[in-house]
Amino acid sequence: MPLRVVAFSGNTRRPSRTRALVEAVAGELARLRPVEVRVLDLLDAGPGVGALDRAALPLPAARIVEAIEGADALIVGTPVYKGAYSGLFKHVFDFVEPESLAGKPVVLTATGGGARHALVVEHALRPLFGFFAAQTVPTAVYAGEREIVDGVIADPAVRARALAAAAELGALLDLARDRRDLRVAAAG
Ligand SMILES: Cc1cc2nc3c(=O)[nH]c(=O)nc-3n(C[C@H](O)[C@H](O)[C@H](O)COP(=O)(O)O)c2cc1C
Repeated sequence: MPLRVVAFSGNTRRPSRTRALVEAVAGELARLRPVEVRVLDLLDAGPGVGALDRAALPLPAARIVEAIEGADALIVGTPVYKGAYSGLFKHVFDFVEPESLAGKPVVLTATGGGARHALVVEHALRPLFGFFAAQTVPTAVYAGEREIVDGVIADPAVRARALAAAAELGALLDLARDRRDLRVAAAG
């Protein structure tokens, strides 16, 4: 069975550079490894995603939280809003059970207006996934507005980082697959 990868983007409109960036990393990963990828964003979650507790989440939003929890690996992306991840992106992860992300391989990505907030991936996203004890890959990917054009990464350096992040995720997925196969073999 292929491993299941969820690419979740915190965009609040489409077309979206952030969604394009997580799709690009997912596309590179799919070229490298046999994976089943689902791309989801806040528009898929619907307006009810702002509910104040998990039990009140409408089905589309609840399904996204469940998909994140059940995935073998994540590719996450957020637009930079006011120097950090978007509030609703964080809100979705506030519903996620911490144990479900422990040890899970994760690629961190973000898009912003320019280079000023490029380190959001390190200052905001990495600590968030550190809370979950997720296994974030070393290469995080940030793109400014001129670096993604018409849904395509237009900048060679950003493209190279997307490729590197996908390759690092692929290597972690190999380990995850080995662990899963050992568990299945041990269960007889
Ligand atoms: C409310 C709001 C706040 C923003 N704050 C920042 C910011 O602090 N720094 C930045 O670089 N870009 C900022 N931007 C620009 C977006 O991060 C940028 O356009 C992003 O690529 C949009 O992603 P999307 O196409 O997925 O919606 C902001 C945009 C909005 C709508």
